[in-house]
Amino acid sequence: MNAPLIQPLYNEVQHGTWSTLYRRQRKNLEDKGARLYLDALDEMASLTEATIPRVDHMSAALKARTGWGLVIVPGLIPVDDFFAMLAQRQFCTSTWVRRPDQLDYLEEPDMFHDTFGHVPPLMNPEFALFMQRFGEIGVDLQGNDEAVLALQRLYWFFVEFGFVEEKGMPRAFGAGIMSSYGETHHAWELKADLRRFTLEGAMSTPFTTTEIQSTYFLIKDIPEVIRDLEAWRAGLS
Ligand SMILES: [Fe+2]
Repeated sequence: MNAPLIQPLYNEVQHGTWSTLYRRQRKNLEDKGARLYLDALDEMASLTEATIPRVDHMSAALKARTGWGLVIVPGLIPVDDFFAMLAQRQFCTSTWVRRPDQLDYLEEPDMFHDTFGHVPPLMNPEFALFMQRFGEIGVDLQGNDEAVLALQRLYWFFVEFGFVEEKGMPRAFGAGIMSSYGETHHAWELKADLRRFTLEGAMSTPFTTTEIQSTYFLIKDIPEVIRDLEAWRAGLS
């Protein structure tokens, strides 16, 4: 077992980039983002505009609320390892922060995406449960390539690029939207054309990581997604 990775120290330019990203995107999300996400973000004293946050502090806040924790990883990790971590209520984050000239475009997720985008919803008990069951089911289905692809699509269209309905209105929710100024505007312009989420619909829709999204799903109810996921899993065995 390798020793846990340690978060590096950052210079003023990096802290400044973080603050710029945070300030701009928090404002941008005020009338577009789900309250489920925004209220959790605003409540987290460990995830603010002031400086690049400490992973151990955010992890402690998550642990106290929903039993989740954060683990530092060097970058993208194999899908089987990812499922295993989620099953144990552990989310992984990188610790590098983009350069000032990369505010709007990244080939690989940085810490702003991994934390600003992914951490706040993990404070929500229903979403926290979904993520754990998603991981456990992924572990169970290792080696079943078709089922793993279906799970990856579900993750993409819900966790990364989903909208949720609040008070009858669509609100941006997925981390790929919440952590990107440009993606937020793009997705918001398409909100009249959101597809009503169904598990089968998400699982049968291909996605690409190299082009801007043309399909976004609207999730009505997170417990319903969990029930549908359990029913899908039960139907496979
Ligand atoms: Fe992500």
